[in-house]
Amino acid sequence: MELVTAIRGRRSIRKFKPTEIPRNVIENILNDARWSPSWGNSQPWEFYVLTGDVLTKVKEMNLQKAIAGEAAAPDVPMPENWPAALKTRYAEMTKILLTTLGIKREDKEARNKFNQYMFSLFDAPCLILACIAREHPVEYQMLDIGLIIQSICLLAQDKGLGTCIMAAAVRYPDALRKMAAIPNDKKIVAGIALGYPDPDYPLYLLDRKRADVNEIVHWVE
Ligand SMILES: Cc1cc2nc3c(=O)[nH]c(=O)nc-3n(C[C@H](O)[C@H](O)[C@H](O)COP(=O)(O)O)c2cc1C
Repeated sequence: MELVTAIRGRRSIRKFKPTEIPRNVIENILNDARWSPSWGNSQPWEFYVLTGDVLTKVKEMNLQKAIAGEAAAPDVPMPENWPAALKTRYAEMTKILLTTLGIKREDKEARNKFNQYMFSLFDAPCLILACIAREHPVEYQMLDIGLIIQSICLLAQDKGLGTCIMAAAVRYPDALRKMAAIPNDKKIVAGIALGYPDPDYPLYLLDRKRADVNEIVHWVE
């Protein structure tokens, strides 16, 4: 796939077909993604690939804790305050997402239903947990893990697979560590839901926006 087509064409997938992904396909993706850059070539990343019964149990745990109202306690805290421009973009994305699904803002029940579907990881047949080392400054590792996560998403796309990077998959890292045998010296940064996209789901064609290039680029001469 041409690089520009891949970068512009990658989109978050929010409904997956149940089709299993052959293990060698996932292995190939991760094998190529290893060539992503990292600070001092330190490669601070490790990945846990969850499928089968373990993933089914993880989805159930994530959903049940969310339904019970258990507060999320991610290893890397979610932002609480952000600049107004970013808030506006976030709100716009949520609005377009709900509109595309035909959900009215005040329809709490329908919104809850979608959220529950999200906590069930959009039925993905595979979840990759991206981890960093607990005893290494988080800031630089976040840069490195972000680079390799994008590589994974693009490589997956090249193989006809879809991805959704998910904070909603890592709200309860202590439970995840137990269920997926992840040692305590690892922080779980994000999940990558992986699978074959369902092109009939309305969000498959979600009208995503991006800030104009002039808003984000400053030429200094
Ligand atoms: C760190 C990170 C966490 C995310 N967490 C979620 C999530 O929990 N649920 C979800 O539906 N999308 C999640 N996303 C996907 C973003 O909403 C999505 O990338 C953004 O809206 C842009 O859309 P696109 O990926 O289709 O281009 C996450 C993305 C990133 C980078």
